[in-house]
Amino acid sequence: MADVDQPVAQEYALDRDCTTLSRHVLQQLQSFSTEAQDLSALMSRIALAAKLISRRLSRAGLVEGALGFTGNVNVQGESVKKMDIYANDVFISVFKQSGLVCRLASEEMEKPYYIPENCPIGRYTLLYDPIDGSSNVDINLNVGAIFSIRKQEGDDIDGDARDLLQNGHKQIAAGYVLYGPSTMLVYSIGTGVHSFTLDPSLGEFILSNENIKVPDHGPVYSVNEGNFWQWDESIRNYIRYVHRHEGYTARYSGALVGDFHRILSQGGVFLYPGTLKKPEGKLRLLYESAPLAFLIEQAGGRASTGTQNLLDAVPEALHARTPLFIGSKEDVALVESFIQERARESEKTVMARS
Ligand code: AHG
Ligand code: MN
Ligand code: MN
Repeated sequence: MADVDQPVAQEYALDRDCTTLSRHVLQQLQSFSTEAQDLSALMSRIALAAKLISRRLSRAGLVEGALGFTGNVNVQGESVKKMDIYANDVFISVFKQSGLVCRLASEEMEKPYYIPENCPIGRYTLLYDPIDGSSNVDINLNVGAIFSIRKQEGDDIDGDARDLLQNGHKQIAAGYVLYGPSTMLVYSIGTGVHSFTLDPSLGEFILSNENIKVPDHGPVYSVNEGNFWQWDESIRNYIRYVHRHEGYTARYSGALVGDFHRILSQGGVFLYPGTLKKPEGKLRLLYESAPLAFLIEQAGGRASTGTQNLLDAVPEALHARTPLFIGSKEDVALVESFIQERARESEKTVMARS
């Protein structure tokens, strides 16, 4: 007697294998409108970029000129890796002749890149970090990419993309690619957080997890403790607290995407506080922190600059940085409580002196 459930299980497996990223976007939007089709096509292009970069990363040690430094320093004042430039250019190329994206703002480019043939029609702007965790590239450890999609406001006649200098609530989609043992693409268009895994045999990103929710609390705290000497006393007090209480574990990979993905999956908090050398912190608001803040809020978590909701932060410039505390709502709140406590103590000291 054939197992009556057999066809159902098989049908489910087939349906799951056919749930590509572009189909999922349309399902999420419950629409086949032009706008829905555009967003679906846009996400497909991002998936193509991820596949091209994943292919190069997986063979980088065998490809002449794939690894190492270019010898140049970017607008961030950081030494640029060859993979940074390759990945940056891949994102530009996949959007050419697309009619979708007029402007691309990248960590690796001082000014936004305009695609003239798209600009009259394309009303979307892609903001991205083409390779996040560059320091891991040459040692074959996980790296990522982070992206954010905004709608262009106005005609940007003088090409200074001033309309991008708005808070993170203006994002219409955000996500990241994690180049790990498998290549995963995690995204949200405001209807939950969903993950796709690249099936190399198909060359497709296939749905692997829907409506991901971050635990309200988790054991992981993720921070570069080598900066302890540069932190404000409030952050040092938080670190002393987790050092003295059971139930915490430190994990830090040097790549924000990998550390964030762990916290999204297991709970906890990632911290990149301001330092003496970088009082605003290291991470860039528009294409690192804000997209991840969009995701974490969709997943039931929180993101903060330490003094305000990260999504409320308004950048003064394209490459503006802010401190970042992101993850489980209880763990972000705990970090903020140390910051608030320190602020109260400072206020009392000032009052006492006056
Ligand atoms: P990028 O490689 O895009 O410059 O990003 C690196 C960032 C982030 O991925 C990571 O969390 C952080 O830099 C690590 O900084 P430190 O080495 O100062 O800890
Ligand atoms: Mn980065
Ligand atoms: Mn980068």
